[in-house]
Amino acid sequence: MNCAKKQPLILGIESSCDETAAAVIRGRELLSDEIASSAATQAKYGGVVPELASRAHAEAVDEVVARALQNAGVQKERLDAVAVTYGAGLLGALLVGLSFAKGFACGLGIPLIGVDHIRGHLAAAYLEDASLEPPFLTLLASGGHTAILYTERADAFRVLGGTLDDAAGEAFDKVARVLGLPYPGGPHVEALAREGRPVVPMPKMLKGQGGYDFSYSGLKTAVINYVHTKEQRGEAWSRADVAASFQSAALDILVQKTIEGARETGASTVTAGGGVAANGYLRSRLSDACAQAGLRLVLPVKKHCTDNAAMIASEGLIRYRLGDFAPMSLNARASIPLVRSSAVRKEEL
Ligand code: KG4
Ligand code: ZN
Repeated sequence: MNCAKKQPLILGIESSCDETAAAVIRGRELLSDEIASSAATQAKYGGVVPELASRAHAEAVDEVVARALQNAGVQKERLDAVAVTYGAGLLGALLVGLSFAKGFACGLGIPLIGVDHIRGHLAAAYLEDASLEPPFLTLLASGGHTAILYTERADAFRVLGGTLDDAAGEAFDKVARVLGLPYPGGPHVEALAREGRPVVPMPKMLKGQGGYDFSYSGLKTAVINYVHTKEQRGEAWSRADVAASFQSAALDILVQKTIEGARETGASTVTAGGGVAANGYLRSRLSDACAQAGLRLVLPVKKHCTDNAAMIASEGLIRYRLGDFAPMSLNARASIPLVRSSAVRKEEL
């Protein structure tokens, strides 16, 4: 077992929700990045059905990992470690990837690394810019979290603010449903918003309030009430205008708070992660705001914002360098509180 390599070959595996993904990195260089999604099947049910997700992972994981190794041009015997998401996520889904990773690591006699999914989203930025080093400020917006994090060292971050109720992605998914759009809602709301204008009044969420916590339930409820009232009264309304109005209300606040966070912490570099960071409106607003504030922005490509295994391998590299390896008894976890997410803790094993 050689844990001292500077540029180790790490296989990353991700199966926390409806994406079965595998990727290989050498140091910060991404060699392959494979994904099989069951989102199309899940869309028929308006959300992720855990049992279907687990079955889809079990069917796909073998082939996705084989493809990742083949496209990287790496024989499995040359791998230095296997990094796998152990939480947070759907337990059955996580167990498929985790069990596979354990078998793989054990069979090859190499270390197993347990990765917190959210730390993976944070680590996606390292693949975008190999020169990135802490300190930096991250806007994290996914289906489960909305947060602003200040990374002081590779393995230590401070939570400036987090999710009070619905997460940003969750609000996009719920609003999409009201607008008759399929799951997952974010990309569909974004596409519809492009055809509309932000003219529907929305509650001024959090604006003017101090702090960095995010609440989306009021905004979501306002959209639902607006649509229901219009329909009950038989009045005409524009789905595209509602989408555009919701989108700008939901995302402008993220940009505003990120810039404020950078000012407060003195961070000169900003990164982003999580599915909502794939939103084109957010990406362009954030890059304009960072340019205006003189901040360097490291924005992962869209496919590394939504769930993927490259980010899991990237976080795996950080843990590898720390020698933070997991025992074969590592269990899957449905949730991992953000404040406790900087390392796999002994009591979680
Ligand atoms: O990070 P992610 O893929 O999975 C979680 O860890 O939750 O994030 C998924 C969330 C979903 O709620 C999805 O609707 C949202 O990210 N999302 C988007 C966009 N693409 C994905 N939200 C807004 N605009 C998008 N383009
Ligand atoms: Zn995610």
